[in-house]
Amino acid sequence: MTTSVAKANQYIEKNQDKVDERYRNQFHLMPPIGWMNDPNGFIYFKGEYHLFYQYHPYDSVWGPMHWGHAKSKDLLHWEDLPVALAPSEPYDKDGCFSGSAIEKDGKLYLMYTGFNQNGDEVEQVQCLAVSEDGIHFQKYSGNPIIDAAEIAGIATVEDFRDPKVFQRGDMYYSVVAAKTEDKRGQILLFESVDLLQWQFKSVLLEGGEEQGIMWECPDLFHLDGKDVLILSPIQMAEEGFAYKNTSSTVAFIGTVDWQFGKFLIENYHEIDSGLDFYAPQTCLDNQNNRVMVAWMQMWHRTMPTHELNHFWAGAMTLPRLLHIENQRLVQQPIPSLYTALTDETVIEEVQLDSEEVVYEDFVFSQQYLKIEIDNTTLFNTATLKYGVNQTSALLISYDKENSCLTVSREGVGHRITGSEKVTLVSRSIAVNQACEKLVIEIIRDTSSLEVFINQQDTMTMTFYEESPGKDFSISTDGKVRIPVIQSSQIK
Ligand code: FRU
Repeated sequence: MTTSVAKANQYIEKNQDKVDERYRNQFHLMPPIGWMNDPNGFIYFKGEYHLFYQYHPYDSVWGPMHWGHAKSKDLLHWEDLPVALAPSEPYDKDGCFSGSAIEKDGKLYLMYTGFNQNGDEVEQVQCLAVSEDGIHFQKYSGNPIIDAAEIAGIATVEDFRDPKVFQRGDMYYSVVAAKTEDKRGQILLFESVDLLQWQFKSVLLEGGEEQGIMWECPDLFHLDGKDVLILSPIQMAEEGFAYKNTSSTVAFIGTVDWQFGKFLIENYHEIDSGLDFYAPQTCLDNQNNRVMVAWMQMWHRTMPTHELNHFWAGAMTLPRLLHIENQRLVQQPIPSLYTALTDETVIEEVQLDSEEVVYEDFVFSQQYLKIEIDNTTLFNTATLKYGVNQTSALLISYDKENSCLTVSREGVGHRITGSEKVTLVSRSIAVNQACEKLVIEIIRDTSSLEVFINQQDTMTMTFYEESPGKDFSISTDGKVRIPVIQSSQIK
């Protein structure tokens, strides 16, 4: 009998060459064909990184969820592996939703949400699958391992998903997303001694009315002396520049009271201030650093590669190194990015006086570009135009007077529309003017741009140019000093 995993793998093999390469990235994970959303099961296992993902192989739109799978040695270059999970059992017949991975006794365990729907009745339950070789997975015969009985009176099984499993001392824990009856986000904490038998421990954290109607994809970890809970709220209320997308991501920084299983919040903020970033998940790398990857797309927006019949949709961000500084989660590109840079061009000491300087043929598809701006020089605004062609360019504008940086894809390539009242084409972030320098690092891979600001904050967006923009320019309304512009190929 052909299993649903084998059927998916056969389909991929037979149809993969239909994929149009035009907007494909080189060092970001994408599905071999079909649709991708959340990262799942991110783990360093037996000398390699494994990254699974929400996957619908048969179309470039969301559908019955499988787990796609890839591995990497450096978090930049990925090798596709066979599909790991497919809907097959009564408890996951309509989808294997998001989850995580853990190693125990040399085996790789996946903890995921089984989704099943019978008429109007929707059920989300937590399940396990295990593998000896890290490639072929067997669903546990005792599934589901957490179901309605464990959460009676606390949450409903209709919205109960995305387990992130971890070990602490001799115990295993899992944080799972749920929803209160009055539609607020909720994170439940479960504990287990063996990964097989699970008990409800506590409601770890509950959201306020302004913090979204449901929380998804939680992850809880200890970093630089703090506990960090990251999650992805649906319809978080806007606050200043933050939470403008229909679905957002938040980092809560604080302490977990492990006796009562409560998260005590000291600070919280949006994780990425761009247009395409959702459902981040972390793991420890081979040096015990915390690294994070996210889906580089946004719900409820059109996807050009689907509309253009390119047979694929969705990509992951570049994995990022995490730290806590001043009660904030800060992000830097993973160290292997810097070792992958070649063919460096450095331009030093650029001084502009109310003018624009254009660098022709400066832009290419796999590019690292670093621009340092001297904050002590006298100007109000400085605008970088990236990928300039006859009709458009991506903009990164620094409004020094109002201490904010804005990225915009307005008018660039294929139009992306969304369910927001007004189509969102740009986003802003507050920047710390007190720093002597503003350091902007741009990481471009074919159809994605990730902007790192002062090795702390990020703004991520996709774009689908119709004709390649080759030029780069900088303009200002005053006197600006740019100590360094560095451009490299990413190999
Ligand atoms: C988040 C999410 C998860 C769910 C998965 C389904 O993007 O909605 O909550 O498990 O996607 O694909």
